[in-house]
Amino acid sequence: MEGWKLKDAIIRFERVTKLYDGVAVLDDVSFEIERGKFYTLLGPSGCGKTTILRLIAGFIEPSHGTIYFHDQSINQVPANKRQVNTVFQDYALFPHLDVFENVAFGLRIKKMKQAEIDKKVKEALRFVNLEGYENRRIQEMSGGQRQRVAIARAIVNEPEVLLLDEPLSALDLKLRTEMQYELRELQRRLGITFIFVTHDQEEALAMSDQIFVLNKGKIQQSGTPKDIYDEPVNRFVADFIGESNILPGRMIQDFLVEFAGKQFECVDSGFLPNEHVEIVIRPEDLEMTAPERGKLRVRVDSLLFRGVHYEICAYDENGNEWLVHSTKKAEVGEEIGLYFEPEAIHVMHIGETDDGRHEK
Ligand SMILES: Nc1ncnc2c1ncn2[C@@H]1O[C@H](COP(=O)(O)OP(=O)(O)O)[C@@H](O)[C@H]1O
Ligand SMILES: [Mg+2]
Repeated sequence: MEGWKLKDAIIRFERVTKLYDGVAVLDDVSFEIERGKFYTLLGPSGCGKTTILRLIAGFIEPSHGTIYFHDQSINQVPANKRQVNTVFQDYALFPHLDVFENVAFGLRIKKMKQAEIDKKVKEALRFVNLEGYENRRIQEMSGGQRQRVAIARAIVNEPEVLLLDEPLSALDLKLRTEMQYELRELQRRLGITFIFVTHDQEEALAMSDQIFVLNKGKIQQSGTPKDIYDEPVNRFVADFIGESNILPGRMIQDFLVEFAGKQFECVDSGFLPNEHVEIVIRPEDLEMTAPERGKLRVRVDSLLFRGVHYEICAYDENGNEWLVHSTKKAEVGEEIGLYFEPEAIHVMHIGETDDGRHEK
């Protein structure tokens, strides 16, 4: 285990399991968090994202395994002794207190002197662009402003790690996009570690240094947004991150794969001869051609205009569905060719995950 320990790890989960009524909602999970980066836990509802945050915050304890903070086990450390603050999904602000007192709350509990509280609250509000709002009531603040108050209340305690549990999900699309930029910028300015939770893959891709994709209490894959988009390790990740064509296939030999009834040159190697695999091709990597120029022939079933491109749904002669993004239009019922480079084919082992099987 020593081999994969990061030098600058601030949090480390070592084989952590959380059981509720005997059922593992987190199942033997190991990962590391480095100082000063923006991390995202991404996965569908119920996959265990909030459970991970609650374990880090100390609101619940692991059933098995160990959580380390700077290489010290914190399994026995109570929540209020951890250098961690949480921004909750519903913000959990105090409606009867004004903005200043909401932000000052944690400092008052620590019995800090008034002059110091004034200074720190002012600074935290400046960070989130809410200078001058000290005496506003929470009810008079918009959704985006409440969001900022919740963040100011968390960062005023100068945590080493800020946990954000789907903090943008209550906002409308435009505000959400604005807040994505703001949060990312705030993380850079503060230089502390953010662990951000979302079920929205576009949000995760746009914001993160590092993403953990979760499903059913297991980390499916961890990596940069580009790693995860370009090199998904399994069907779940490929499907969850953006639109994909995912087909069953067979690896004939290194650099040669069969799917849709044909053999294609590819760039993947290291599989067993004739290993059953799944292949992924992104819709934007398929080029529409004349039927005789394509590597595959398909018939257009439907199309939608998406502003920048057409989203074309077509079927090959084996009945496989193909999604194509093209700036050129096609006609429903028309036969077209699909051309793709060997690099566009991504071959995956069936059932592979990053957790356990592939320790780096
Ligand atoms: N206190 C609890 N008691 C029993 N089951 C729970 C409890 N908290 C969470 N769960 C279950 O654990 C699973 C993961 O929950 P959670 O971490 O909140 O998911 P997410 O945040 O990814 O939506 C869900 O199936 C949920 O129902
Ligand atoms: Mg949750």
